[in-house]
Amino acid sequence: MFASPKQMILEAQKNGYAIGCFNTSDLEITKAIISAAQKQNSPVMIATTPKAIEYAGLEALAGLIKQMAKSSKVPIVLHLDHGKSIEIIQQCLELGYQSVMIDGSEKPLEENIRLTAEAVEIAHQHKAICEGELGHLGKAGTNQDRLTNQEDIENFVSKTHVDLLAVSIGSKHGIELDEKLNIALLKKIHAETNIPLVLHGASGVSDNDINQAIANGICKINIDTDIRHTFSKSIRQILAKYPQEEDFRNILSQVMADIQKLVEEKIKLFGSTGKG
Ligand code: G3H
Ligand code: ZN
Repeated sequence: MFASPKQMILEAQKNGYAIGCFNTSDLEITKAIISAAQKQNSPVMIATTPKAIEYAGLEALAGLIKQMAKSSKVPIVLHLDHGKSIEIIQQCLELGYQSVMIDGSEKPLEENIRLTAEAVEIAHQHKAICEGELGHLGKAGTNQDRLTNQEDIENFVSKTHVDLLAVSIGSKHGIELDEKLNIALLKKIHAETNIPLVLHGASGVSDNDINQAIANGICKINIDTDIRHTFSKSIRQILAKYPQEEDFRNILSQVMADIQKLVEEKIKLFGSTGKG
């Protein structure tokens, strides 16, 4: 079923758990995420990046997710992840996305504020919620990240009216050895604001850090790389075991089972089991 995104996030914030926001780009991953959510009776957000949209086609991908979400028994929100322009925000909202992220994190602060405020206004006109990013998450293996400055938060939130705030607290997009969250910084951020906080780059972050992040205000957690790695690893293992297998449906059924298992583990870790 479709759910009110605002209510989904506020329930998580009030009750001290996090909503898993899982990235998809195809039928198999979408099906696995929904099966995991149903098995765990958990609300979830299903996210598509501009790259996933470029891969699958916006209308096809949104249509597939919406159709599958409609017949599911748990609350599902369709989310645009890392939208970089007003155009893509607009296109997704017109197709029924209930939540969008505008990522102006590579821009100077004032430009990020201007772009985010514009995206929030459009999202709210569509009765959707909008997430912004303050500070910048780098890619694993690089040093491009800028940690969130807690002193910018009030200015950013009051000028943009964002519903959710993605913060840069040490995690990276992708998986890096010894990815460590700066929980001291998260505590300072949490003391500054009541806005629901989002953790990006959660693949590669330890379970202990995830638990501490949730205890200190994180109520949405994004997972992408772990899913893509599970997909590829699963295919390699199946083909190594059954090199003669000709029917891709047999291969992809096992891939879906492996992704479902991963997503169920994340849901349990985030504490949203039984909240559907
Ligand atoms: O927006 C997506 C996430 O930040 C995913 O990060 O690829 O490290 O799981 P990840
Ligand atoms: Zn991200």
